[in-house]
Amino acid sequence: MNKTRAAIRTVCLQLENPPASTLYALIFVGICALKWISDYRKQAKVPGVGYDSFPLLRQWRAAFRFMMNPRKLIVEGYDKYKDGYFRFSTPQYEYVVVSEISRINEILAAPESSLSFIDSSNEAFQIPWTMGMGVAYNHYHTPIVRTKLTQKIQNLVPILFPEVSATFDRLVGASPVCLYDINVQAIARVSSKAFVGDLLCHNEEYLNNAIGYAESVLVSAEMIRIFPDWMKPALMTLTPIARQKKIAAKFLYPLIKERFALEEGDSKKAAKPDDMLQWLIDAAPPSERTLERLSEIVMALNVASLHTTTMTVTNILYRLASEPPYYTEELRKEIAENLTADGSLDKTKIGKLKKMDSFMRERVVELLILVWKDYRFKDGTVIPRGTVLAVPSYCLHRDPAVYTKPRDFDGFRFSRPREVAADGGKTNENIKHQMVSTDINYLAFGHGKHACPGRFFAVNEMKMILAHILPNYDLRLAFGTAPKETFLGTLGVPDSKLKVLMRARQ
Ligand code: HEM
Repeated sequence: MNKTRAAIRTVCLQLENPPASTLYALIFVGICALKWISDYRKQAKVPGVGYDSFPLLRQWRAAFRFMMNPRKLIVEGYDKYKDGYFRFSTPQYEYVVVSEISRINEILAAPESSLSFIDSSNEAFQIPWTMGMGVAYNHYHTPIVRTKLTQKIQNLVPILFPEVSATFDRLVGASPVCLYDINVQAIARVSSKAFVGDLLCHNEEYLNNAIGYAESVLVSAEMIRIFPDWMKPALMTLTPIARQKKIAAKFLYPLIKERFALEEGDSKKAAKPDDMLQWLIDAAPPSERTLERLSEIVMALNVASLHTTTMTVTNILYRLASEPPYYTEELRKEIAENLTADGSLDKTKIGKLKKMDSFMRERVVELLILVWKDYRFKDGTVIPRGTVLAVPSYCLHRDPAVYTKPRDFDGFRFSRPREVAADGGKTNENIKHQMVSTDINYLAFGHGKHACPGRFFAVNEMKMILAHILPNYDLRLAFGTAPKETFLGTLGVPDSKLKVLMRARQ
């Protein structure tokens, strides 16, 4: 009896003054309960994959099954429901996958007011709070990336190529090496040179902060997601992104102030720098011309560009390291034909690397397009609010109706038609197969009005990396190793820890 009383007393005391673990447990149970209750209103009336028949916490078990093998579940759904829709559950959302082309076109053509790409990414990454209100709602940077940065590539390639070479020559030490870590440093340096100029692109603290920023956005978004919006600004101060914004400010605020000063007084006559920061300052609407907002936009561009490009180029290099030497030899020949006598590279020559372009396009990071809002398809299917609409890009990239032997790797699949087209002068055919050309069966950069505006820059960055690595290093997977397939939600990401054999060529 006494023992029971003592136990009750302990529980009561704990409830009065709960330890952190009890609090966490209560929060977790609360979320489970909310998720379970909300399950009933979130399900679209389309077939599901990964669910079993036992009703209790059914969606949680389905989400667990998804996490164990996301690709298997999506391929299973696609094979069964190619002509329509299927749904699956993840820990955050219920997804509806749209497999059939005319319905995918319907999604792409839908106006922003009924299916909002912006709301979707704002929700997924909690952008208003993690990256900032300007990044969430004022997209003046997108046309700048699409036009100004793309037009500038011509001049940038000869300036950026030596930065790529310098990074690899400095960081490739004793073999084996972690390729992801070196690639991300090279991409951060090259992008920063184009975004904020010479000084910061060589500053290690700035670069490492830019690299870590994207990860902190993801972590911080998960930390605040379940709380009501009014609590989020206060909660943000406790997340890792708050500290990283301070570090970014330490470097970017003085630079932005310098640029503002250039617009005044005598210095007005001095030539303006020609980089992303300056284009942003010139184009920013009045509400965005503050130190905080401009700094947030630069960091948001780092989020959009650094890890996406690094993941893609790392995957390409893993593939190259695991394929027969034939591909490496062919690509080396192509690079040798296009490097100038002093070993430099320019935009015209980089555009001629068709085999490399094809090899890169053949296998890229798999992406799903996420759209966030209620929607009624023309066939009457209603997708309830709170669902994520997705396109199975992995399966579309392997559609036998479009590609011959789609499941086999064919590195020069896209350069062969370009060679023929070049002979016959068919410009369209030449353009259609380039890595930067998006279509419904090739969604690595999205497609339609929100297709990635930075893809031209990204493809050139990646080609510079390959054009440096292949002639200068031998690359191989160590015996008995292979890249592990990893997923971040629905996004397939390369094995960032894998060490590969990399040795300078004689
Ligand atoms: C290999 C590297 C990259 C990949 C795979 C990639 C992929 C994507 C994808 C899939 C989207 C969404 C498109 C959609 O849903 O329709 C996107 C959007 C975007 N990307 Fe990229 N991206 C890459 C590199 C870059 C770079 C280097 C930049 C900037 C210099 C950039 C800037 C952006 C921006 C600003 C958007 C938002 C566009 C909008 O709001 O309409 N990306 N990217």
